[in-house]
Amino acid sequence: MCGIVGYIGKSLAAPILLDGLRRLEYRGYDSAGLATVSDGRLETRKCAGRIQALADLLKKEPAPGGVGISHTRWATHGRPVDENAHPHADGSGRLVLVHNGVIENYQALRAQLVEAGHTFKSQTDTEILAHLIGKLYDEARAPHGKARLLEATRAGLKQVIGTYGIAVLHLDVPETIIGARRGSPLAVGLGRGEHFLVSDPQAIIAHSQEAVYLKDYDVAVVGRDGFEISTLEGGIAGSYEVTKVDFTSDDVTLGEFPHYMLKEIFEQPHSVRDALRGRLSKDDASARLGGLNMTPQELRDVDRVIITGCGTAYHAGLVGEYLIEALGHVPCEVEFASEFRYRNMPMDKGTLVLAVSQSGETIDTLAAVRESVRKGHRTLGICNNVASTIARECGAGVYMHAGPEIGVAATKSFTSQVTVFTLLALLLGRIRHQSSSEGLGIIKALEAIPAQIERALETSDQIREIAAKYVGAKGMLFMGRQYNYPIALEGALKMKEITYLQCEGHPSAELKHGFIALIEPDMPSVFIAPDDTMFESNLNSIEQVKARRGPVIAIGTEGRKGLEQVADDVVYIPRCPDYLSPLLTIIPLQLLSYHMAVHLGRDVDKPRNLAKSVTVE
Ligand code: AGP
Ligand code: GLU
Repeated sequence: MCGIVGYIGKSLAAPILLDGLRRLEYRGYDSAGLATVSDGRLETRKCAGRIQALADLLKKEPAPGGVGISHTRWATHGRPVDENAHPHADGSGRLVLVHNGVIENYQALRAQLVEAGHTFKSQTDTEILAHLIGKLYDEARAPHGKARLLEATRAGLKQVIGTYGIAVLHLDVPETIIGARRGSPLAVGLGRGEHFLVSDPQAIIAHSQEAVYLKDYDVAVVGRDGFEISTLEGGIAGSYEVTKVDFTSDDVTLGEFPHYMLKEIFEQPHSVRDALRGRLSKDDASARLGGLNMTPQELRDVDRVIITGCGTAYHAGLVGEYLIEALGHVPCEVEFASEFRYRNMPMDKGTLVLAVSQSGETIDTLAAVRESVRKGHRTLGICNNVASTIARECGAGVYMHAGPEIGVAATKSFTSQVTVFTLLALLLGRIRHQSSSEGLGIIKALEAIPAQIERALETSDQIREIAAKYVGAKGMLFMGRQYNYPIALEGALKMKEITYLQCEGHPSAELKHGFIALIEPDMPSVFIAPDDTMFESNLNSIEQVKARRGPVIAIGTEGRKGLEQVADDVVYIPRCPDYLSPLLTIIPLQLLSYHMAVHLGRDVDKPRNLAKSVTVE
């Protein structure tokens, strides 16, 4: 997710803005920039590349002043080059603006502005918005000042189709920053004699731990000593509350690990424990999930579950589907959020919609939530970020409690999501067909999982060596069955994201239906073959790969023999019930992608082209 940090206060703005951008750096971006007001001038510095490049630029050409706005861009319109970096100025050069999101009707707006004599320096949709608001400001009759800028911003945004989180600065009102949101997150950070406007309060955690989150169509006027929030239409905004921002800056340090991804992989015994904490009830032989806000009767009335999410969250949802059907006995489907939002799925009264999102800000998932809520369906969020838009708009759900996830490649959030689905499946099952002894069996197995993940992590050194053998591979295939089919998909996604190798995940038995054509000596296959009912069938598929000279890495269960005769390498995980195996089998796959990426010299925590949370469509 691209970032916005604005500051107005008694200190120098630029260092605070730069520090804020750095704290959001891990989320992925391709350019950075800032503008400050100093001595009646706008000082704009921006460039493509890393924040360090902006810092270097600022050393050569400082941007003084106590008011400023800044941005990290994740390009949607126009290549990641200096002139497309934000802030963008209007035609007069007296207004600057930073923007997260997409102005969908920018071409129509651009044509109108060109007709009116405007020329543009960039290929972005954002510059159009800057010109539009600047033009409306210049043409307005009201006296120069805050109210006029506010009105021009509102009027400009009313012409916009699309999504935005913006921060606007104008030389006529150098003591004010205007912010507005629709679709992209924005919050006001509170301080004494200083205020902030940020896409995520974590950016300013070192300065302020209190924030007010804007709602869609809110407009904020932020000054040194206070702020006002109104609506786009000019009305008074509904009530808003001050939220305590609870992640401390210590949570996001690397410690002894070389990369956040590795740190987060190794955090999983704790994060899964945290997802379980206080939620297992031996008295009821069931799960307790108070955040659902559902009575047992209401849970019983659920006759269909639809899970929606993107990327890794979608894959966790696929594991959830197997769990909810097998343990919970409720029909379940999983849909990409980006498809769900446009698909007119027939759903009846008993349908429960679960939206899964680590960040809680993914725009496709948010749009799916809104569509589901609009249709009157009970919609629950499974989120990590407690203060996120999806968590707030769902109003009920289950938090993952995974702690901040910095690595762009999601790891610990995946296992937390799967843990939450197991709890939900247990709860649904115990209200239906599961006996208390079966419920207790599941609880016992779940309690053992964190220690088993710890043991699975011990395979890291072995996996580093296996990875070294395959640095020359042209791609990788991932296969698994039943509960571990989604793990094949997730394993392939992890490998693609951080190594840039062409990878595919499939159900093992699909091999012979087509992608067996890809098998050759430099195309290794990874089989997820724990000791479950599918073991023999996986073994059979491995034989088919070996018969065609394809190398095989297998993930098996300790104590189950058979794999070592056919596979080139076998990594063993501890024994657990088949429904919990995804929580263990994913560990070696996360480690495999990590070690491959390190061997290949990739930027593990900031893979190319990716953003941590995608707040544009
Ligand atoms: C995971 O490694 C990816 N970076 C990506 O697929 C991610 O899971 C997806 O964008 C969804 O994000 P969310 O959980 O924050 O909604
Ligand atoms: N659409 C804008 C651009 O391409 C903003 C992208 C972003 O959200 O960073 O510049």
